[in-house]
Amino acid sequence: MSNIHIGLFGFGVVGQGVFEVIRKSKNAHAEIARICVRDPKKPRKIAVDPALFTDRAEEILDNPHIDLVVEVINDAEEAYRIVRQALLKGIPVVSGNKAMLAKHLPELIEIQKKNRVALLYDASSCGSIPVIRNLEEYYDNDLLLEVKGILNGSSNYILSRVFDHRESYADALRQAQELGFAESDPSFDIEGYDSLFKLVIITVHALGAYVAPERIFTYGIASIHESDIRYAREKRVKIKLVAQVVKVSDEHFTMFVMPEFVEPSRYIYSVDDEYNGVVIRGECYDRQFMFGKGAGSLPTASSILSDVMARLHDYRYEYKKREYLQKPTYTTDLSLKIYVRYSQTNILHVLHFEEILEQYISTESNYVIGMVRLSELLAKRDSLRARDLFIANIPIFFLDRDN
Ligand code: HSE
Repeated sequence: MSNIHIGLFGFGVVGQGVFEVIRKSKNAHAEIARICVRDPKKPRKIAVDPALFTDRAEEILDNPHIDLVVEVINDAEEAYRIVRQALLKGIPVVSGNKAMLAKHLPELIEIQKKNRVALLYDASSCGSIPVIRNLEEYYDNDLLLEVKGILNGSSNYILSRVFDHRESYADALRQAQELGFAESDPSFDIEGYDSLFKLVIITVHALGAYVAPERIFTYGIASIHESDIRYAREKRVKIKLVAQVVKVSDEHFTMFVMPEFVEPSRYIYSVDDEYNGVVIRGECYDRQFMFGKGAGSLPTASSILSDVMARLHDYRYEYKKREYLQKPTYTTDLSLKIYVRYSQTNILHVLHFEEILEQYISTESNYVIGMVRLSELLAKRDSLRARDLFIANIPIFFLDRDN
């Protein structure tokens, strides 16, 4: 088997991991032929032949000896231009850029089909856990009812440190940054957008449906407060940032990203630190659970290596579920049971509750638990960003099709 020649875009945390993982793997049949970076002269932590570096994308994209582009840069729009150009030129691509994919997948799927060229991106969702390829291949049927889990390592790391180790939120965030889990702008992690992008990509492979990120209610952990943690401890639950796509009827599915009260009996209860955990529920087989490192240089790079190896065997996603006749449609027309902690903002003036189940008022902090339409949460999302509010989902069961 001859070696696959890789043109690598990006040499940050993940790019360097790709370099190391390929060097470690004895049967990789892959070599990095060129590395495109913004500053080829920048000193690097690992020893790399300086001649491999370039700052000119054409030296990869117009190079007839390059068999595969691996794109792991930070800038989503620049990544889009590179990936699009490579695919239009017929060069297969492996990418880890969830923000770029979540925004541009419909167009990139069309280009793949038209140009008969592959784009693989298992590293974009849940680091080392092979979520995408499993959804695409093993779950290629309509038994699937739900994919739900912890998709962001940094926010999970922060919650674990705060919850289990009683550290401060700020210290935990700094550690997540130092350990290379967090995005260059960590607000993507803590405000839920990183989980959202991964959820959009996962849904394309779970249900064959693409939903644009701005149509999905997303709420993070940025405003979590000691009183929320105390409340959760008293109730013997943990707070986790959970992303989910769920079939709510035969015809409809919903999606949202929110902190959630997780009971000890749930698989994701014991997913801590930078680990991710994904629960897949389907008719006939109930629940299955995938667990692993969702962030960090080498775990993410190992997923890139898996896609590189898959290309040696001409693997490509076929997006078979997108052709299904009875593809379910996206809805936000359903009720969720939520907890809202508030102080200055009178939540009952901001959000319409269909039903209030519990309310607590004190000099320190107040909370209300009640039923709210998901469409109402989506419509009010800007007002809900007030720093004196924190919202968590209290899970309810949508569709029992196990019998
Ligand atoms: N910032 C991301 C996370 C990196 O914390 O999960 C992996 O996608």
